[in-house]
Amino acid sequence: MKQIKEGIFEVGALNPALRVFDIVMTTDYGTSYNSYLVKGSAKTALIDVCHKSFFDVYRENIREVCDLKSIDCIVLNHNEPDHTGALAQLLPELREDVAIYTSQAGSIYIKAITNRADLNLHVVKEGDSLDLGGKTLRFIPAPFLHWPDSIFTYLPEERVVFTCDFLGAHYAEPYLFDTNMAYPEKYRKAFLGYYQAIFGPFKKYVLAGLEKLGKLDFDMVLPSHGPVLTRGCMLEEAMEKYREWSTPVRRERRRVPVFYTSAYGNTRRLAQAVAKGILSKVDAEVPLFDIIDHPMAEMHRELNESDAFAVGTPTINRDAVPPVWELLAGMDAIGCQKRPCAVFGSYGWSGEGVPNVAARLSSLKCALAADPLRVTFVPAPEDLKKAEELGAALAESL
Ligand code: FEO
Repeated sequence: MKQIKEGIFEVGALNPALRVFDIVMTTDYGTSYNSYLVKGSAKTALIDVCHKSFFDVYRENIREVCDLKSIDCIVLNHNEPDHTGALAQLLPELREDVAIYTSQAGSIYIKAITNRADLNLHVVKEGDSLDLGGKTLRFIPAPFLHWPDSIFTYLPEERVVFTCDFLGAHYAEPYLFDTNMAYPEKYRKAFLGYYQAIFGPFKKYVLAGLEKLGKLDFDMVLPSHGPVLTRGCMLEEAMEKYREWSTPVRRERRRVPVFYTSAYGNTRRLAQAVAKGILSKVDAEVPLFDIIDHPMAEMHRELNESDAFAVGTPTINRDAVPPVWELLAGMDAIGCQKRPCAVFGSYGWSGEGVPNVAARLSSLKCALAADPLRVTFVPAPEDLKKAEELGAALAESL
């Protein structure tokens, strides 16, 4: 337990050993599941809960501040199980009538997460508040930061905002405040990785969240992962980085990368023809990338920041080759929705790679500009012409 301000305590748990979060995200510096107790003169509120694996230490941390039965209400800013998983274990130890405040979407999720239909739920909307006695909790919708359910909770008397995932980081140090962080450069790396994995697909919502924070008077952000951010230390930098990373890149020319890989140079020749076709129709940057010659993180960035793209794959074992699947695995499916694309490739026997990639892109709701192009073995002049036409169709769909 750590005191943050008068009547505000952090009671969550550190998980320094965590190395993978949500299956797909590496966490070199572990994480923390921050939870906050706010004691007003009339009521005590718990803000966000904790991962279920840390319930015992979490319960003891709360008990250091108050009797469990003295908790009147719980605010769930976001219902992902890293913040709500321990709620099912906690509820039987609290008063039966403990009130739970969350968004409309959150009220649906939390019933399914706790498998309880009898929760004393209060759905909060923009402008709603809860008076704890000298401490007011104001609720601010913050959808898609990081799920549709997300809200911020603002406590104006103490000038703090509880933001859950927003401005958080998977970073575990025993020091709670940014002012005495032991390894700030490692924190910055964790902060960036967290943003990319969690908020990269929700950039416009990040900008909306920053705008909402900009209307508040506060000197601390209390996230539910990583250190508390304070004005004059890392708070301004963190908010500025979110703004910088979320602001759309403005380019003079549109960028249409052509990704491919090629065992014998045949899919490469098609890629070159597709690029030529694109350039015949638009003045754009059209870089050609043999996927296996570049770091995959760079390929993912190129894909996600493109205006349109083409993917070429050979067929091996009746499928597209693993580097092509790895490229698509890094696609920001929300940001790339309706993004124009094209698929092509050379094959020897059966040629499933091209239709499989096209089906995948369709399922991700990208916009195929034309029918995929398959060529057997070495592209003949007429095949190269078709590849140019494919590139032209892609350019015309921009
Ligand atoms: Fe930390 Fe989206 O949960």
